[in-house]
Amino acid sequence: MKQILEIEKLDHQGRGISKINGKVIFIPNAYIGEIVEVEVIKDTKKYMEGKVIKYIKISSDRIKYNCPYYHECGGCNIAHINYKKQLEFKKNTVIDIFKRYANLDINPNICESEDNIHYRNKVVLHVENNKKGFYKDETNELVPIDNCLLLNKKLNDVIDSFTKRLDISEFKEILLRTNGEEVLAKFTSDNELLNTNIVLKDKEDKEGEDATKYIKENAIIFNLGKYKYAVTSDSFFQVNTKQTIRLYDKVREYVGKEKIETALDLYCGTGTIGIYISDLCNRVIGVEVNKSSVTCANYNKLLNKIDNIEFIEGDVSTVINNEMNPDLIVVDPPRSGLDNKTISIIKQIKPKKLIYVSCNPMTLARDIQNLSEEYNLNDIELFDMFPNTHHVESVCLLNLH
Ligand SMILES: C[S@@+](CC[C@H](N)C(=O)[O-])C[C@H]1O[C@@H](n2cnc3c(N)ncnc32)[C@H](O)[C@@H]1O
Repeated sequence: MKQILEIEKLDHQGRGISKINGKVIFIPNAYIGEIVEVEVIKDTKKYMEGKVIKYIKISSDRIKYNCPYYHECGGCNIAHINYKKQLEFKKNTVIDIFKRYANLDINPNICESEDNIHYRNKVVLHVENNKKGFYKDETNELVPIDNCLLLNKKLNDVIDSFTKRLDISEFKEILLRTNGEEVLAKFTSDNELLNTNIVLKDKEDKEGEDATKYIKENAIIFNLGKYKYAVTSDSFFQVNTKQTIRLYDKVREYVGKEKIETALDLYCGTGTIGIYISDLCNRVIGVEVNKSSVTCANYNKLLNKIDNIEFIEGDVSTVINNEMNPDLIVVDPPRSGLDNKTISIIKQIKPKKLIYVSCNPMTLARDIQNLSEEYNLNDIELFDMFPNTHHVESVCLLNLH
């Protein structure tokens, strides 16, 4: 079925929204005000999905994105919109989500990214039949690529050089991560003998005798402000390094000038936030479930000569308890947000301040709603960590009533 439609608004993933006989249709790569000829590719009881066949009226906010894989890959799902409008879209999305799921009226500032291409410090490539690429959105269908506009140029250089020199057919996944100088590569294969981690270094090891063997062989060091962080391929680290510094500076601002007695840094990864705010606190306790990240965190404590921080390996919901008495809790959970048990313990502990860092506004709004009897949202700032995609990072300051 083909139809000519006008795009009324965007959904939270940046897809154009229109209606056919009152039923909503979601159309990727279509912007507000555009008139498009659409083929309906999915029709369910509640909604339809369509694909643009022809643009009849094009928005003046549409731009040309120079990526040959744009239409197949789907990773950069809002790259056809100019950057100012991308920021507006992300801000409006969060405003809408907070109204709907937390009944809160907000008007957050959004901190734009200095780079809107070549900002990613990490990539995971899937390999099939000696071809490397990304999976098309929500499928296992490989879109072969030679390079990616979002990646730090160093990563594209490495992809280019291993394509020329290496037989990758034995691998199923290749992870690359860079601090701008060195590249960490992890090759994963069904043949365990071939699984390997390589650190491709430009410079000789800078940490000298202090460096542990594990970190030397498995990690690269990132600089964020005055702090250094060793990060392995298995650890979480924010993908947009410059924006991360701005985000962590916001967390510092929310911690405030009054010295914190004890702070918990929950979901602490490689100890990034805890270390970044350690001079504002007398004591910091980080909690993280990933073993490799905790090894990095303990190493990062030494690397930065910090002695008021300790790390506990474990699941946040089983490690924290109501005997703990922090005056500040920082949480930075995965996309699923906080589980009920963790929320309930936080409500019992009742720290004066809660700082919530989130990559998913939906679970963030849900959790703030669940905390609303005890906490009010004092401030929120958004950070565009992922230009050209619909994703957005938020930082919230919550105060005990
Ligand atoms: C979004 S990352 C944040 C990491 C860190 N705060 C940073 O900024 O680099 C979430 C982290 O939570 C960890 N994690 C996930 N579920 C967890 C759980 N139930 N308990 C403890 N850590 C968890 C992940 O391993 C990951 O390191």
